[in-house]
Parts: sequence; structure tokens; C-alpha cells
Amino acid sequence: MITEAPEAALREAVLEEALTGLTSTPKTLSPWLFYDERGSQLFEAITALPEYYLTRTERAIFAKYGPSLPSRQGSPVTIAELGAGSASKTGILLQHFADQQGGVLYQPIDISPTALDEAAASISEKVPGVIVESQVANYITDGYSITRLERHRVLALYIGSSIGNFSSADAVGILRNLRDHLEAGDSLLLGVDLAPGKHKPVEILIAAYDDDAGVTAAFNKNVLVRLNRELGANFNVDGFAHSARWNAAASRVEMHLESLAAQTVTIGPERISFREGETIHTENSHKFTEASILALLEGSGFRLDRLLHDDQQRFAVVLADAV
Ligand code: AVI
Repeated sequence: MITEAPEAALREAVLEEALTGLTSTPKTLSPWLFYDERGSQLFEAITALPEYYLTRTERAIFAKYGPSLPSRQGSPVTIAELGAGSASKTGILLQHFADQQGGVLYQPIDISPTALDEAAASISEKVPGVIVESQVANYITDGYSITRLERHRVLALYIGSSIGNFSSADAVGILRNLRDHLEAGDSLLLGVDLAPGKHKPVEILIAAYDDDAGVTAAFNKNVLVRLNRELGANFNVDGFAHSARWNAAASRVEMHLESLAAQTVTIGPERISFREGETIHTENSHKFTEASILALLEGSGFRLDRLLHDDQQRFAVVLADAV
């Protein structure tokens, strides 16, 4: 049997995604296309931007409430994390669990073996008492497993507002699948970005996705650079503008690439025409209210325990029990 090399399989997936999305109405490209090497670097840069409050606010919530989390769990826990990436924020939590329960097993699950290697190296170096058991898996499409130690509960982490990048049906699917790996009494710690409100005008949200330094614009446009490089497409990258929009009805920030003129782009044998002002919709980032958090939890087999947020109510960390 001839099996396809991983690079060939990836190129096929990129081609299929590009042709399907760009021949649809309206035109779309899926956000997973952002994360080639350059895109992953740009995303890291986004998390440090002054306008992108999400990462530092979630980190501050962990710093404030982290010390009390282990005792709230009642029994010792092993920690599993979906989409762990390089686990840069998780160290704070692991430290508290390792200190208070005399060690902790940490199971990061991620599609990127490089990110997992980085996570394991930095956690082992910086957080004594943590045993790291990494798993390479796409938690959306592949199976994965969570190890349960005797007399331990599982605390599952899904942080960084990652859940916001999915439609509500897909978000419920991801959490339901996670719930199926857990037992009643296990817990979920979920990071969600909050919808605009009294303390959070829409402008704050838009700025987070359209920063002054243009890093998010470069992140969004990098998808076209990728299609040019990997598929031999001929996008004129400067012929598209980054646009971040608040869609109140769907409670989400949308990212688009807007064609600055009528133009035609070639991808292999396919010719794709754009009208001036027509957009490629590249990402949704859903923002939650208490009601939508409750609905998400209820739909996926969890019950809210505590909602932790910052003083300005920009971001929330949800603690929930598997029921
Ligand atoms: C990965 N995800 C949670 C980010 C977000 O905020 O939706 C992706 C991102 N897109 C633009 N900036 C950040």
C-alpha cells in the first residue's frame, strides 16, 4: 500500500479548503490555514500586543484565583489540556497543584508535536513536581485519551478563548466529546472572552483584532501568502485589506480580507473573481454572556460551578462540573 507523505496530505487539505472556501458564496477560508510557521509566530506576537487583552487578562485571573483552585477540587487531580500549544499560561496553575498536592500529572493534547515538545521542556524546567505526558492529536477530528490515576479526579483545561473560534454547534460537539472522556465529578476549566457591555465597549474588541502595529492584519493576510507559496496561487496580497467587524446578532468578531479592486486570482486551473469590496471571511471569534455560557455548558454535560472574571469584566474563566 502506498501511503501519502504527511506534507502531500497537508497540501491536499490546503488545496481542498482553498477551492471549497473560495468558490463558495460568500467566500471563506478556514482559520486553521492561519497556522503555518509564520502564522504561529504572528499569533504569538498578537498575544503580547497591548490591544489584545485576552491573554494577559486570562493570565491575571489564573494568578488571582489559581492558589485556591486545588483545595476547591477536594481530591487530587490530574490535569489534561486540549489545544495546549506551548502551554505558556498553564505553568501558573500547574505550580499551585504540584505544590499543594505533592506533584501533578499533566497531559497536554495538541496537533503540533513541536509545540508539545516546547511545552514539556519548559514545564519540566520551570515547574518542579510536574510529570508531563504529551499526546499528539487533533482533538476536533481524532480520538484522544485521558489517563486517570487511582483516587484522582480529572481537571480538563480548554483555555485561551479557543472555544470562541467555533460555531455554537461545533463548540458543543468539542465539549461533549471532552465530557465523554470524563466521569461525573471531574471538572472543566474553560477560558471565554466576554461580549461587550457596560465596561467593555465594542471599540475595545475591535482594537484587539485590528491593532495599530498591524500584526493582526499581517496574521490575516498571511493566509494569502501561504496559498501563494504552497499552492502556487497568485494573490496580490496588497490588493486585500484586513477588516475586523463586530457582528452583534451572532455575538462575534469577524475577520475578513476585503478585495480593494475587482480582480481575478488563479489557483491551479481555477480562476476566482473578486468584486471590489467583496470579502473572504477568515475567522469568527465568539464572545459570551453568562446566558450563552450556561447554554453551552448545559448542552455539553457540564454544570457551572464558578465564573471568575477580571474587574473590567473583559474575560472569564469558567469552572464547571461534569454531570
Ligand atoms: C486563537 N484564538 C482564540 C484567537 C482569537 O482571539 O479568536 C485567534 C486570533 N485571531 C485574531 N487574533 C487572535
